[in-house]
Amino acid sequence: EKGGFPDFMLKEIYEEPRTIRDTLAGRMVNGHLQFDELSLNYDELAAIDRVYIIACGTSYHAGLIAKNLIEAWSRIPCEVEVASEFRYRNPIITPSTLVVAVSQSGETADTLAAIRDARIKGAKVFGITNVVGSPVARESDGVIYIKANKEIAVAATKSFLGQVAALTLLAMLLGQLRGGLTTAQIRMLFREMADTAQHIEQILADTSAIEEAALACKDAQNALFIGRGIGSTICYEGALKLKEISYLHAEAYAAGEMKHGPIALLDEGFPVIVVATKSPTYDKVISNIQECKARGALVVAIATEGDEEIKKHADHVIYIPKVRDCFSAITASVPLQLFARDIAIARGCDVDQPRNLAKSVTVE
Ligand code: M6R
Repeated sequence: EKGGFPDFMLKEIYEEPRTIRDTLAGRMVNGHLQFDELSLNYDELAAIDRVYIIACGTSYHAGLIAKNLIEAWSRIPCEVEVASEFRYRNPIITPSTLVVAVSQSGETADTLAAIRDARIKGAKVFGITNVVGSPVARESDGVIYIKANKEIAVAATKSFLGQVAALTLLAMLLGQLRGGLTTAQIRMLFREMADTAQHIEQILADTSAIEEAALACKDAQNALFIGRGIGSTICYEGALKLKEISYLHAEAYAAGEMKHGPIALLDEGFPVIVVATKSPTYDKVISNIQECKARGALVVAIATEGDEEIKKHADHVIYIPKVRDCFSAITASVPLQLFARDIAIARGCDVDQPRNLAKSVTVE
């Protein structure tokens, strides 16, 4: 049932192009976004003045990406919070608050508790989940299903991409309702997001640079992931993937924070994985790479195809196809997942069933 793959994690990474295609299927009809199952009251939705995205683990990281898009396109303030914190404080929730609960399994205890609490306080709750009829789906006012099919490996991979795609659609919808995006822009964004399925296929067709970089880092004790903007949000997920399956200590930082502490960690050969795709802050990221190199770090850069310059700065370069910055969240996550898996395999770990972890956390 692993379909010829050595483990479920790898099989599920190779299912990512399909996840993107399936999650987007039927969402654009005659040039308009389609969310029939939400039975949306557009007036109600247009009156939303605050969005909370509530989730745990990898799903929380998908939320971090979505915050950037929701605020950029709709100008509605959006906070992302881990469910176990949200449920025990007293967040500002009113009937014009939209709570978006993100959960692959749809049964995470803290996320469910947060949904219940938010509804009692009068918020509108949308669930984003992979499991039809799951508690998150049943207890939300509306649900958007990601179409990742069953995910067996404990480490979330394809479901993360499905979540990012579904949340991006929601951000587009809010942008449209608030006049931040025109219909033409929505169509263009949708098309470009759909194209990421092919970009992922291209990444999966040649993974040699990822394997080489992983080989160079496999014996390290620690690793740091840095980036800026969307790049920093992907780093959090890259670091989580690495630590959970390879037991290598990994941390993620917004690259601008390096001088405020983490740069003290660096010495000869310390692996620093940098998301250095072409983005509005590309030059700043290059400066961060130079600072790391000056301290002897081993730099692995995820970069945009055609960027020859970066070879002068990084020890290993993993190229990915050029996409609009917001969609690099989808494409750049793929090499980070493979990188984590390659290191875990090299260290002899069971990638599908990491120690101490369960696929869904149904108790606190
Ligand atoms: O099913 P959920 O999305 O609610 O699960 C939340 C986390 O437990 C989950 O994302 C976890 O962090 C991943 N399995 C890590 O790869």
